[in-house]
Amino acid sequence: SDTPLALTPPMGWNNWAHYMCDIDEAKVLANADALVSTGLAAKGYDTVTVDDCWMTKSRDADGDLVTDTRKFPHGMAWLGDHLHAKGLRFGIYQDAGSLTCEGYPGSGAPAGGGADHYARDARLFASWNVDYVKMDGCNLYVPPGTTKERAYRDAYHAVAGALRDSGRDMVLSASAPAYFQQGEWGGSDWHKVLHWVGETGQLWREGRDIKVYNAKAPNTSRWSSVLGNYGYNRWLGRYAGPGNWNDPDFLIAGAPGLSAAESRSQVGLWAMMAAPFILSSQVSQLSPAGLAALGNTDLIALDQDPMGRQGAVVSSNATFDILVRPLANGDRAVAVLNRSGAARDIDVPLGEVGLPGCTADAKDLWNGRRALVGGSLTGRVAAHDTGVWRLSPRGCAGAVPTGQIAGAGA
Ligand code: GLA
Repeated sequence: SDTPLALTPPMGWNNWAHYMCDIDEAKVLANADALVSTGLAAKGYDTVTVDDCWMTKSRDADGDLVTDTRKFPHGMAWLGDHLHAKGLRFGIYQDAGSLTCEGYPGSGAPAGGGADHYARDARLFASWNVDYVKMDGCNLYVPPGTTKERAYRDAYHAVAGALRDSGRDMVLSASAPAYFQQGEWGGSDWHKVLHWVGETGQLWREGRDIKVYNAKAPNTSRWSSVLGNYGYNRWLGRYAGPGNWNDPDFLIAGAPGLSAAESRSQVGLWAMMAAPFILSSQVSQLSPAGLAALGNTDLIALDQDPMGRQGAVVSSNATFDILVRPLANGDRAVAVLNRSGAARDIDVPLGEVGLPGCTADAKDLWNGRRALVGGSLTGRVAAHDTGVWRLSPRGCAGAVPTGQIAGAGA
């Protein structure tokens, strides 16, 4: 249908970064229950997505995908009903290429060419009352004489059309840009893909996988993974807006391997970037500090601000990044990331965040404290932490362009 979808960034949970392929119905439902019992579901984390490895290795005689009933004994329609009964939404993973990243049947044309299954799979998902489809981009066949970019563009437009034609509103998480990553594939290709991907999906992966923190990967640095994905995503604000979100991958705040400060940083930076808030962790095991950060209603409201403008970096050096995000009511959010290993005092001139000559009511979103500031925003940011403030202008000396205060320009 033509209903606008995902006017604010999607929120929820996905199994991948914690469970990878070791997933089943009981684990999905346990995490769904934990979203409800922790209060996260009521705060908006409502879309529960089953990632790769939910199906068997071949389609049935009709050509339909087959649920692995050793993992999901009651099937996917049943799972969707159960999630819906808890007030949650149901998301599922598939791939626009011939095979998923883990080698299960994809929706795309087989390698070498042939018919795709986009319409069939979209109908099946609609029949299961799926609300959200994560459509990955592994193993996508590039026909001879076609560019890789053209092949992805055609495939994702076909996916979007098939979902629309299914008659059910399903949010599409597209992955095309992740297969043209800056660094791996060259920055110019990356931007070519980002330019059209919003015609297909409401959100899109643009970078690497956030590092899993399960037993298979005990020693990877989750903090550098978080900073790396932030590092790509922070520049992409021009592609974001209501119904179109850059996705720097999962929130692993509160999971093993990230400190309390690092967990706050991920939530703060993702909120500044209007990023999807999709947890991928064992919800019942989240650290208290991580749970507090994820459940902070001021941070959630920042992420979900209805104007949908992604925050931008206004200054960056080896220690600090300063980001500013204009908000619908005329407020400005300001974040300061401290990459260094020591607490640092900060002093951010209000002119630098678009409020020259102004006095502002500044709320520290981590502790709720308010202060009237003039000239500069000052404070202390712990090592690896990110301070986040919401500034409401209270009067500005001289001529300050209204658009600059309200963030209504652009
Ligand atoms: C890719 C995606 C991950 C996950 C796996 C599943 O790596 O980026 O998020 O979906 O595939 O195989």
